[in-house]
Amino acid sequence: MSVKKAYKSWSKIYDHNENKTRDLDLVATQTVLKSIKFDTIVELGCGTGKNTTWFAPLTTKHIAVDFSSEMLAIAKEKVTALHVTFMEADISKPLSIPDSFADIVTCNLVLEHLQFMTPVFTEVTRMLKPNGYFFISEIHPMKRYVGSQAKFDEVLVESHLHHLSEYISESEKVGLRLIKVNEWFDEDKNNPPRLLTLLFQKNK
Ligand SMILES: C[S@@+](CC[C@H](N)C(=O)[O-])C[C@H]1O[C@@H](n2cnc3c(N)ncnc32)[C@H](O)[C@@H]1O
Repeated sequence: MSVKKAYKSWSKIYDHNENKTRDLDLVATQTVLKSIKFDTIVELGCGTGKNTTWFAPLTTKHIAVDFSSEMLAIAKEKVTALHVTFMEADISKPLSIPDSFADIVTCNLVLEHLQFMTPVFTEVTRMLKPNGYFFISEIHPMKRYVGSQAKFDEVLVESHLHHLSEYISESEKVGLRLIKVNEWFDEDKNNPPRLLTLLFQKNK
């Protein structure tokens, strides 16, 4: 199923159905980013605004991007703060956001839907201020090696496996420095980790 079509339907239940990945993503994001100061943010693939709700009070300029109008409509109902702008756009293409806009760019549970990550890393680096951060939270590749991937109503949603080495080589191409890697498990740590989070920093 195409990604846009899947999220058109998924939007109706995304916030309400049982979804361990969604819930753990919020915990992981808050844990990694609570000690980082940021004022301007770009959220790539903000969805229904689960993380936007947490970020918004911490920021003064905030752009939340998604290509699903249905997911965005729910986010807009939740987050009405005037400094938050919602933008309907495809993050695999250049975005109309100024150079050096953001202290941080975040991308949660989105990159598995993109075949190629180079355009995203290139745009992120352009939009970041010097010393700005790029935070990624993704399904752990290990989880994919054992056969798990995004599904809606048991139908597989278009998704692509990205190895850890791929994230690192993409960051090296654009000069982002990896400063933190975390793996996030369910209660049973004998199973593969559910999520991988990566925090990169742009050089001065
Ligand atoms: C699993 S949801 C994650 C939403 C949110 N980041 C969260 O953590 O709850 C993935 C989101 O990525 C968006 N998305 C996927 N591919 C995209 C693309 N190429 N451009 C913009 N948004 C995209 C989908 O529309 C969907 O809202």
